[in-house]
Amino acid sequence: MTTIPIAADDVDLSDFDFWLLDRDVREAAFKGLRDMPGLHFNAERVLEDSPFPPGPGFWSLVRHDDVWAASRNPQLFCSGQGSNIVDLPQELNEFFGSMINMDDPKHFRLRSIVSKGFTPKEVARVEEYVKVKAAAVVDDMLEQHPDRQCDFVEAIAAPMPLQIICDMMGIPDDESKQVFHWTNVILGAGDPEFGGSYEALMTAGLEMFTYAQALGENRRANPTDDITSILMQAEVDGEQLTTQEFGSFFILLVVAGNETTRNAISHGMKALTDNPDQRERWWNDWDGVTKTAVEEIVRWSSPVIHFRRTATADTELSGQPIAAGEKVVLWYNSANRDERVFTDPYRFDVTRPLQPVQVGFGAGGPHFCLGANLARREIAVMFDEIRRRVPTLHSTGEPAYLQSFFINGIKRLPCAW
Ligand code: HEM
Repeated sequence: MTTIPIAADDVDLSDFDFWLLDRDVREAAFKGLRDMPGLHFNAERVLEDSPFPPGPGFWSLVRHDDVWAASRNPQLFCSGQGSNIVDLPQELNEFFGSMINMDDPKHFRLRSIVSKGFTPKEVARVEEYVKVKAAAVVDDMLEQHPDRQCDFVEAIAAPMPLQIICDMMGIPDDESKQVFHWTNVILGAGDPEFGGSYEALMTAGLEMFTYAQALGENRRANPTDDITSILMQAEVDGEQLTTQEFGSFFILLVVAGNETTRNAISHGMKALTDNPDQRERWWNDWDGVTKTAVEEIVRWSSPVIHFRRTATADTELSGQPIAAGEKVVLWYNSANRDERVFTDPYRFDVTRPLQPVQVGFGAGGPHFCLGANLARREIAVMFDEIRRRVPTLHSTGEPAYLQSFFINGIKRLPCAW
């Protein structure tokens, strides 16, 4: 690892330029923050054309203990005022974030309804489809690239999670490309390649919302066997989801379900290429190692870099007073490298013990990733397919990374076999 070129006091996590620095430099900066007493505070900046003024700043939770404590105390660290750093008007919070930006009792009601789409029976049904999809994705790659080289993201990592979410929700294949484009724009805000602007983000959000409302209305009237139909028919305490609630949940689900899993798979491929001993260890004992390997890929990649909470009362963490109304940001990437908790955290180790728990899916509490089991399955099945059919598949160059402080994204990864 590179030595610290930025003194901890000078680290500005809201500066877009910080996120363009070399990865080792950023890792060193986070280590510096973990090692300083108390919590670090940064002022805020916003996207260039955003109509909203920058907020009052945020405390950074960079140690595993602090992220764990805040995540599991939603009464004191709430989500209802937003789970991204920027403050949006309340109606936009729920419009864009659905339940990730809610607290109980609203969150509980919505999560109870949508959980009906994620029962073991539903997940088992989807799992069957995951295997079929993974096989088809590898078929396509082999067929379309007789020269045995391609972009791993385009060929393998992107199509599978997208197609699975679209299938779950009953979106026809020919419309899934449009859905993928919207999710790219929403999570790529900040990266010029995807539009990069606040306006592009709002337009994509509104288009996707309108699309989802029509889908929901259609399935309420003409139910099929997809999850959209289950959700539109489900009742909790005699109440159904409104079409508007479904529209917002749809945005959350497709964005959360697509981009995260695909980035985990891409980072996984790079990590296995960079660490051939770990690949060999996994390939040679598939059943024994898969569980820890998948968890390690999520720890290593931390596809979601952070979420935010807001303090509901005066409190403290790591001895740092936090006033009611102040924001705290849970940096999952840093908690997942905390040397107080993980032995040799910069080592990619497919047999790393499951305890202490990695926090890539969140650190527990009411918002813990609804799709964690599905994502774990997708990652395992995709690498199983690769191991059995293209065991020599490896990355051949540096990835093109997404410019984002929210999603640890890989846009392109050259590979060959
Ligand atoms: C490797 C893949 C994934 C990662 C790293 C990931 C990560 C996360 C994280 C960090 C959270 C917030 C947790 C918290 O605040 O405590 C979250 C929430 C969520 N995730 Fe995932 N996720 C992944 C895959 C998925 C998939 C496949 C789906 C859906 C099919 C999904 C749906 C959701 C939903 C709906 C929430 C909001 C839950 C709530 O607010 O109650 N995620 N995820």
